[in-house]
Amino acid sequence: MDGLKRQAAARALQQVQGGMTLGLGTGSTAQHFVELLGEKVRSGLKIIGVPTSEATRAQAERCGIALTTLDEVDRLDLTVDGADEINPALDLIKGGGGALLREKIVAAASDRMIVIADDSKCVDVLGRFPLPVEVVPFGFAATRAAMARAFAQSGVSGQMGVRKGKDGHVFVTDGGHWIVDAHLGRIPDPPGLAGLLSVIPGVVEHGLFIGLAGTAVLAGSQGIRVVERR
Ligand code: 5RP
Repeated sequence: MDGLKRQAAARALQQVQGGMTLGLGTGSTAQHFVELLGEKVRSGLKIIGVPTSEATRAQAERCGIALTTLDEVDRLDLTVDGADEINPALDLIKGGGGALLREKIVAAASDRMIVIADDSKCVDVLGRFPLPVEVVPFGFAATRAAMARAFAQSGVSGQMGVRKGKDGHVFVTDGGHWIVDAHLGRIPDPPGLAGLLSVIPGVVEHGLFIGLAGTAVLAGSQGIRVVERR
């Protein structure tokens, strides 16, 4: 699986040109991309990156990649990031690594997003992977109840759990928020559910990435498939 992730990352790297400002994703697949990008930078490629998490910032710095922020630049040429699930419309579930808020801000500020993955991430219908929803700790019970109503309105239901870290404590995102993982099984209308979740005051952001990825680079045992959003 790791070899496939690296192959997808290497293919996406072919889209990178000197002078670009790049969004750098988070997670094990994006890590391969950052590592390969770092090799190119050390051979003379001139790009500048915007990391989507503190973990990616630390890795990019170790790799010698020049970094900036969305305070200094307001548009990026390209973001390359992984995903937890990808449907045929290239709608995504992201946030398994807990970085969905910065990932979505960076993707939305980019002219183009390429999602890189091994092809086990491809599904017909999103939702087998628990949907991460980033919430403010204040008023959590009320937010959770509002989320349950949004799920019911969208015709889905399932267990919701506050994510815990490896240390057993509540996982806190880079933005200081919590993540609720919603085990929905099937999300038949991702744009509809995205709209319902977005208007809940305690929801900071959710892991449905609708209409953001323009290209998916999917590596499988039969080779690499590049899918463009129609
Ligand atoms: C992090 C993410 C990751 O892109 C997603 O979890 C995929 O990770 P991996 O490449 O390790 O499978 O959304 O918030």
